[in-house]
Amino acid sequence: MTATATGFAPAKINLALHVTGRRADGYHLLDSLVVFGRAGDRLDLRAAPELSLGVEGPFADRIPAGAENLVLRAMEVMRRETGAQGQGASVTLTKRLPPGSGIGGGSSDAAAALRGLAQLWDMDLPGPKALLALGADVPVCMDPRPQRMRGVGERLNPVTGLPDLPLLLVNPGVPVATPAVFKALTERDGAPMEPLPDALDLPRFVEWLARQRNDLQPPAMALVPEIGTVLARMEASAGCLLARMSGSGATCFAIYRDTDMRDAAAAEIRAAAPPAWWVAEA
Ligand code: C5P
Repeated sequence: MTATATGFAPAKINLALHVTGRRADGYHLLDSLVVFGRAGDRLDLRAAPELSLGVEGPFADRIPAGAENLVLRAMEVMRRETGAQGQGASVTLTKRLPPGSGIGGGSSDAAAALRGLAQLWDMDLPGPKALLALGADVPVCMDPRPQRMRGVGERLNPVTGLPDLPLLLVNPGVPVATPAVFKALTERDGAPMEPLPDALDLPRFVEWLARQRNDLQPPAMALVPEIGTVLARMEASAGCLLARMSGSGATCFAIYRDTDMRDAAAAEIRAAAPPAWWVAEA
């Protein structure tokens, strides 16, 4: 047991997201390539008699700090599932990722809280069912490295051999409710991702990625037209190889030819962006 632990909750980025079917309970079957960025939230955990959560950082006022916060729910699950009854923790979440934005902030926070508590209390992590019940993106966020995610989020396989990706994230400052986007998805191809060839260099990887899709992008754009503005802005910047929306939006990512071009595009987009826009090198 330790008295304190820290956790990093990186942004989850769906480089491709194919909706391949729908379960009887309404949840959608996915085939998605997920990577994690270097932008993220931070958690500081301290052993304490009770469970408590404080939220600070630029997006602190946009998320609930009470029982419905995924970090507190994750902490309750950890107590229940691992028999850590009577143990507590005081957690400070520094919220740097915009909430409701398709980059898994809440799920990544929950995953980081579970990893931190496992360390703090010297306990095992909850089982896969309990993780999935917290949110479809929580299992993939438990192990923040490139993964192929299928099922509703429970079928996970690590992906190796991806090139370094100079990524930029831009969010237009409009929160998106995931269920509304799935509801607005009326047409879809249904095909899974093409097999990913081994050990690709950046141009070949982008060539492959350009043939994949995010099926949630058209319905999200119909709900939030600013997504189109963000994508056009990224596509117009020098060195942009591909721009696409992540998850159910509205955050979009772009892949650049190299990190210098990415950094230049970040500076240029930041300088001209409306105040509500969030721009992060990932
Ligand atoms: O699991 P999570 O709380 O992140 O999902 C939010 C909502 O998104 C679900 O209630 C459901 O409407 C939709 N969803 C879905 N299929 C998935 C994941 C989420 O339909 N695989």
